[in-house]
Amino acid sequence: MTEHLIQLAYIGSAACFVLALKWLSAVPTARRGVLTGVAGMALAVGGTLLAPEIVSYTWIAVAFVIGTVIGVPMAMMPMTAVPQRTALSHAFGALAAALVGTAEYFHRAPGIDRVTMGALGLEVLLGFLTFTASLMAFGKLQEILPTRPIVFRGQNVFNLTVLVVAIGCAVTLVVRPGTTWAFFVLGGLALLFGVSLIVPIGGADMPTVISLLNSYAGLSAAAMGFVLDNKLLIIAGALDGSSGLILSIIMCRAMNRSFTNVLFGAFGQVQASAAAAEQRTVRSATPEEAAQIMQAGSLVIVVPGYGMAVAQAQHKVRELYDLLSKQGVEVKFAIHPVAGRMPGHMNVLLAEADIPYDRLVEMDEINGEFPQADVALVIGANDVTNPAARHDKASPIYGMPILDVDKARTVMVIKRSMNPGFAGIDNELYYGDRTLMVFGDAKAVVAAIAKELSGPSGLH
Ligand code: TAP
Repeated sequence: MTEHLIQLAYIGSAACFVLALKWLSAVPTARRGVLTGVAGMALAVGGTLLAPEIVSYTWIAVAFVIGTVIGVPMAMMPMTAVPQRTALSHAFGALAAALVGTAEYFHRAPGIDRVTMGALGLEVLLGFLTFTASLMAFGKLQEILPTRPIVFRGQNVFNLTVLVVAIGCAVTLVVRPGTTWAFFVLGGLALLFGVSLIVPIGGADMPTVISLLNSYAGLSAAAMGFVLDNKLLIIAGALDGSSGLILSIIMCRAMNRSFTNVLFGAFGQVQASAAAAEQRTVRSATPEEAAQIMQAGSLVIVVPGYGMAVAQAQHKVRELYDLLSKQGVEVKFAIHPVAGRMPGHMNVLLAEADIPYDRLVEMDEINGEFPQADVALVIGANDVTNPAARHDKASPIYGMPILDVDKARTVMVIKRSMNPGFAGIDNELYYGDRTLMVFGDAKAVVAAIAKELSGPSGLH
């Protein structure tokens, strides 16, 4: 009877996970997706707690309290810190898988069969390497560790050697499960490989790497499912592993980068740019002037980016949208797939401010509309608007699809300084004849523009 209940809970949980992924892929259903995922996890945990193998609930209760004490503050981290928060979650998940694998090994070796030992080896290898790699990714994103890539001669050979020896230990264990030393070496090298894999990758590429680590953690959990003969772990791990991989591929494509370039390209090293050396002039405007130009137009395309997220300007942007719409100006939002620091970053922020979904237009669709736009209003976006991506073969972002803001009649850029964005490079857009820079914090500037639009002069 109990066994049936557990299996029922697991089937319900697996269905919830599949539906959650489906619903999470579109903004209008995303909230439902999150709740369904939570329900799936509750069913999974609830079902597992019914297992007859449990002899005492004391340690489970202790772990529950510790997990809550760590998890609740983690959930409170600001939106801009979501990539590093995700890295921490992967680190804990992967450590759990690796520790369960370690416990199972010492519990069952040397009598463990070869197939199970193979799965266990994979679980421990992926689990430990994802643990240290995710902690490193967290450190780089939180800027506790240096964010720039650290490279040394022979690095790739070193990394490959560590990985090959670790895999050799796993094979030794499959052949002779009782070889305890090989298990220790495997665990140690996996921990080392996690660190050495991340050291040469710049902070800029961490979101893509985190998505890849998500995939590894999922595969480790799926392998754990084989070891423990738990079908739900296999399903959930496989879903996690494949969705993480698909997401990394989407992110790489949107940046026109390959996996090997992300993992071994040391992107984000300080670039000696010729353009940066020469003095060029930019034209700047005040929020009042910006308001007047927008008021006189009929189509304004807003291009949000990472700076809007940092400034938390989305609610002021909503005010601006309302005021312009009221005055008969059509406002659309151009969404670049890698604007911000995580997939869907801009969609989430704009949805939080209740901007209607039908105003958000994806890059391929909106690019044809820029030539008809009176104003392209760039709010804290930089790399995703850099025309160098189209023509400058020497640029690190060459080939990345961008939003064609430079084709609008007027381009207004709200940012605090001439500092570069994520890719660390100058943006030639700022020196264009049609570009006006409106310097300042995105929230303050958008608020000032909105104030001007709502004042007496704005009501005509
Ligand atoms: P970025 O190129 O990173 O530029 C953001 C700009 O915002 C900066 O130039 C900064 O200039 C400005 N800014 C920062 N704080 C601000 C504030 N409080 N008020 C106003 N402006 C502020 O952003 P983007 O155009 O969104 O491009 C995203 C980049 O991240 C791309 O290179 C992309 O490849 C990369 N990336 C994205 C993802 C995902 S999935 N989204 C994943 C990995 C990598 P100031 O300092 O002068 O203000």
